[in-house]
Amino acid sequence: MNPIHTDVAIVGAGPAGLVLARMLQLQGIDAIVLERRSRDYVLGRVRAGIIEQPVAELLVELGVGERMLADRLVHDGVQLQHRSGDAMVRHRVDFLALAGKTVTVYGQRELVRDLIELREADGLPLRFGCEVTGLEGLDDDRVVLRCRDQAGESTISARYVAGVDGARGITAQLLDAGARQTLQRRYPAAWLGVLVEAAPPSHELIYSRHPEGFALASMRTPQVSRLYLQVPAGDTLADWSPDRIWQHLHRRLDLPGSPVNEGRFLESSITPLRSVVHRRMRFGRLLLGGDAAHVVPPSGAKGLNLAVADMAQLSRRLGRAVLHGEASALDGYQDACLRRVWQATHFSWWMTDLLHRLDEEEFGDELRSEQIRTLADGGTLARWFADSYTGLGVSSWS
Ligand code: FAD
Ligand code: DHB
Repeated sequence: MNPIHTDVAIVGAGPAGLVLARMLQLQGIDAIVLERRSRDYVLGRVRAGIIEQPVAELLVELGVGERMLADRLVHDGVQLQHRSGDAMVRHRVDFLALAGKTVTVYGQRELVRDLIELREADGLPLRFGCEVTGLEGLDDDRVVLRCRDQAGESTISARYVAGVDGARGITAQLLDAGARQTLQRRYPAAWLGVLVEAAPPSHELIYSRHPEGFALASMRTPQVSRLYLQVPAGDTLADWSPDRIWQHLHRRLDLPGSPVNEGRFLESSITPLRSVVHRRMRFGRLLLGGDAAHVVPPSGAKGLNLAVADMAQLSRRLGRAVLHGEASALDGYQDACLRRVWQATHFSWWMTDLLHRLDEEEFGDELRSEQIRTLADGGTLARWFADSYTGLGVSSWS
């Protein structure tokens, strides 16, 4: 096979890689997307569901919003539930009134499908089943990527590499651990998620803090629920029979007149909770972004949104470097991203701590209940929460 030369090699066809590919295409920059998993696997992965308002607007601007605008659910508030005295009570936080913004409920799986189908319809390079195994020449004029697919080993040469291969990718792992300047925190909990063929218990998301642990009732459509349970770190799906999952969902989420509806499981998964930040995101011609650069616990619904915000920064800077020879435009990439990364990391840590049962301390329980009451009062804390949850502005991508 003839060697391939491109301007930007994008490692990973997750939301970050696919959004970057679209932004580069619109700027007239050559790129190839390399994805180690099969097309079917990538299109089947469930994961995120909440898209911040500024990110949804950006997706429309990029021309990938048509199906999202037709099929999405727009939420202008969220329900927070906790124990008060002997009863569970629910409070509503009104995003529209507090922050003038909403969120879009639209599955990551659907967004990824929209991006893949658009790229394929445009006839642009996107290779599934192609694993990147090595990078050479990060400080030279071109980087050589080693790849492995069904046909065997091959190389690709690129002026720049976007390392957007997720939390378990290779690009960050190829770098010296010290060079990445990584900070991380592990939580003694994981999320068990189930996609269920049944109507959600409420038209809005319910985040519940319960003595037995956190639970969340989200949705994909008015007929499909997405439900999550806090489980101990290290638990596997084998520890959770369907009966046990339903018992815990009912105990932690049901209020009189608003029970969780049971239905067929369409998918189930377990995700450990952790926070990771690589404080260095640029290594010569390699630029890290999305989950490859930072991981947040899912409680704040920030991971996908942060990945897209990184890509807006990266796309604009790659545009200047590739089209105008201004390589120095990439110097500011990591500093431009890190402020938002830490804001999202803080928000996600704060929501995780607020809503989960991470220790047995009653003192902490009281403090967290008080904070939920303060949020329900609709003052400054509620305004900050609504503004952060619905999303900060995203920088220009071109
Ligand atoms: P990924 O989606 O992980 O994509 C990386 C891709 O790179 C993968 O397809 C992988 O196969 C590929 N890859 C890896 N190694 C290689 C290699 N060597 N060669 C080639 N390809 C490779 N975020 C939100 O914003 N809102 C939410 O509501 C939300 N909810 C979540 C709920 C759960 C249960 C989970 C687990 C996550 C949630 N997230 C949410 C987070 C969100 O799913 C991630 O942050 C997002 O997928 C990150 O996108 P990415 O493109 O950076 O990485
Ligand atoms: C969903 C995921 C989240 O992490 C979250 O905070 C809210 C909703 C979801 O998958 O629907």
